[in-house]
Amino acid sequence: MTDVRVHTGISGLDEMMGGGIPRNHTVVVMGSFGTGKTTFALQYLWEGLEEGEKAIFISLEEGEEAILKTAESYGWDLAKHLESGRLVVVKLEPADAKSTLSKIRNELPEFIKQTGASRVVLDSVSLLTMMFDHESEKRDTLFYIAKTIKDSGATALFTAEVKDENHGSSRDGLAEYTADGVILLRYKETGTDISTVLRVVKMRRTEHMRRVKPYTIGVQGITVHVDAESF
Ligand SMILES: Nc1ncnc2c1ncn2[C@@H]1O[C@H](COP(=O)(O)OP(=O)(O)O)[C@@H](O)[C@H]1O
Ligand SMILES: [Mg+2]
Repeated sequence: MTDVRVHTGISGLDEMMGGGIPRNHTVVVMGSFGTGKTTFALQYLWEGLEEGEKAIFISLEEGEEAILKTAESYGWDLAKHLESGRLVVVKLEPADAKSTLSKIRNELPEFIKQTGASRVVLDSVSLLTMMFDHESEKRDTLFYIAKTIKDSGATALFTAEVKDENHGSSRDGLAEYTADGVILLRYKETGTDISTVLRVVKMRRTEHMRRVKPYTIGVQGITVHVDAESF
C-alpha cells in the first residue's frame, strides 16, 4: 500500500506529521469546550471537499443550519457542497437513544457506501457515549461506528471532550482506544494570559513532532504556529 496522506487543511499541522494524516486512520481531536474541536472538524471537511472529495458530517450537537453558519463564519461555503450532494450532514438526536442506535446500525454502513465519502467526521464522541447508561453500550456503539468507517476506507476524525483540562484523556475514556491518532488541544495559562496549544500525542505509522505548539483561531480557521516555541 502506498503511503497516502490526507491533508487536514490546518496550516502548520500537516508538516508536524510527515505531510498529513495517513489515509484510513481514525484520529481523535481532544480538548475542553471552546478549544476549537468543531472548527478543526469543519476545516478538515472543507479541505477535502475543495480537493474534490466527498464527506459526511455526523453531528450530535448542531443541526445542519447551525453547522453551515459556523462554517460560513470562517469563509467556508459548505452549502454548495451540500447542494451538489458531495457533503452529507447526519444529525443524531442525543435524547433519543433508540432511534439513534437504529440509524447507526441500519443506515450508517449503507450510507457511507452510497455517498462514497473519503472523509467522515463524528462530532462528538462524548455526546454520543453520554446517551447510554451502560459502559458496554457506549463501547459497542463507538467501536461499531469506528469499524464501519474504517472498513469503508475513509479517513475519520472524531472529536472528544477531555476529562479535565490537566489530563490528556477523554471524558469517557473510550475515544482514544478507537484511534490511530490523538491530537490534543489545550488552554495554557501564563500569568493572566490564556493561549491555546496543540500536541500530536499519537499517530500510528508515521513519524510526528511531539512538541507542544501554539495555535490560534482566526477568520480562516485554525493555524498552528510550528516555528514558534511554547514554553
Ligand atoms: N468566525 C470565527 N473567527 C474566529 N474565531 C472564532 C470564530 N468562530 C469561533 N471562533 C472561536 O472558536 C472557539 C470555538 O471553537 P469550537 O470549534 O466551537 O470549539 P469546541 O468544539 O472545542 O467547543 C470560540 O470560542 C471562538 O473563540
Ligand atoms: Mg464543538
